[in-house]
Amino acid sequence: MSVLHSEEQQPNQTPQPLHFGSLRLPSRYLLSPLAGFTNLPFRRVCREIGGVGLCTTDLVSARGLLEKNEKSLQLIATHEVDTPYSVQIFGPNRSEMRDAAQFLQEDGVDSIDINMGCPVDRITSGGAGSAMMCSTENTIQLVQSVVEAVSIPVTVKMRLGWDDTQLTAPKFAREFEQVGVVAVAIHGRTREQGFKGKVNRDGIRQVVEAVSDIPVIGNGDILTVADAERMFAETGCQGISIGRGALANPWIFRQLVEWETTGSFTPPGNFDERLELMLRQFSYLAEHVTPRRAVVMFRKMGHWYLKGMRVRKSLRHQFQTARNREELQVAIEAVRLAGPIGGDRTGVLPDMHVPVPSGPVEKW
Ligand SMILES: Cc1cc2nc3c(=O)[nH]c(=O)nc-3n(C[C@H](O)[C@H](O)[C@H](O)COP(=O)(O)O)c2cc1C
Repeated sequence: MSVLHSEEQQPNQTPQPLHFGSLRLPSRYLLSPLAGFTNLPFRRVCREIGGVGLCTTDLVSARGLLEKNEKSLQLIATHEVDTPYSVQIFGPNRSEMRDAAQFLQEDGVDSIDINMGCPVDRITSGGAGSAMMCSTENTIQLVQSVVEAVSIPVTVKMRLGWDDTQLTAPKFAREFEQVGVVAVAIHGRTREQGFKGKVNRDGIRQVVEAVSDIPVIGNGDILTVADAERMFAETGCQGISIGRGALANPWIFRQLVEWETTGSFTPPGNFDERLELMLRQFSYLAEHVTPRRAVVMFRKMGHWYLKGMRVRKSLRHQFQTARNREELQVAIEAVRLAGPIGGDRTGVLPDMHVPVPSGPVEKW
C-alpha cells in the first residue's frame, strides 16, 4: 500500500504546532462537524488511520444536553482513542449555552465549539447557528458567557456572514478574541450561499488579518493535499478543517501530515482497505446499539463507502435493504466478491464527489 504519490508537492512553510489556548493539537488538520456522520464510530476510524489534530462532534443542542436527552448524550459519546475532542453546541439562549458548557467540562470534554454557521432554518429561526451573525451584541455576550463559565478552550465556527452585503466574520473574530475565544473556524461561504459557488479564500484571509494572535482554521472544499496547500497559501490560516473530503477519503489527514513532513504522501485506501474500514466502523457502531439498529443506522454511511468503492448499484441496493446483521453480511460478501466497477481491488480509486443540499437554504 505504501507507494508514494507521484505528484510530489513541497509544503510551503515549516508548520507551527497548532494550539487551542493551552491545548496543543497533534496536527493542523481537523475533522469538521458533519451532522449525521461525525459520530463516534467514524471519529474512531479517522483516529486509527492517523493525522487528525482534533475531531468535533455533530452539532448538539445545549438544551438537549441539559435535559439529558438521550440523542444529545449519544452525540457526545467518546472513547479513549478519540482525543483531543471537541463538542459543538448550539442554542440561542445564553444561560443554557453557559450551563451546557459547564456540563461538558465536568464530563471531561477537551474543548467546546460554538456553532454559528448552521444555515438550516430549523436552527436559525430560533436565533441560533448562522442567525447569530445578525445579532452582534447578544452574540458576543453569549460567547463571553460560555468562555467565562469554563476553563477549557472555547472556539467558534462560523460562515463569512449572512450574505454578501454582511461579511461580518472578521469583525466577530476580532471581538471573540477579545472575550477569550482561542480559535475560530471559518467556512468560506455566506449563509445565503448554502453550499453554492466557490469558497471565498479572500474572505477567510480577511479574518486571519482581523485577529491578533488566535489561530484561524480555514474550511471549505478541501478534498486533496493541493486544495489544503492553496488554502494555507492564499489565506494564511494556521489550520484546516475538512468535512466532506474526509467522508470521501478518511485517509486525507494522514496524507496531509505525510505531505508536510516529507513532501510526498501515500494514496488513500484501496477497495479492500475501504471494505475493511467500513466493517470496522460498523462493529464500533454495534458496540453502542443493538445489531439490528446498527444495520439501519449504518445505511447512510455505508452509502458513501460503497459509492467511493465504486460498487455496482444493484449490490449497493442489496446493502441498503439488509434488515439484520445476517443479511448485511451476505450483502457485504457479494460486494467483496464483485470488487469495484472496472475491477482494480488494490489500485487508487477515482475521487468521489459528496453532494450537498441545493436550492434555497430556507427549504433544506
Ligand atoms: C451533511 C452536513 C452536515 C453538517 N453539519 C454541520 C454541523 O453539525 N456543524 C457545523 O458547524 N457544520 C456542519 N456542516 C458544515 C461543515 O462542517 C463544513 O463547514 C462544510 O461542509 C464545508 O466544509 P467541507 O467542504 O470540508 O465539507 C455540515 C455539512 C454537511 C454537508
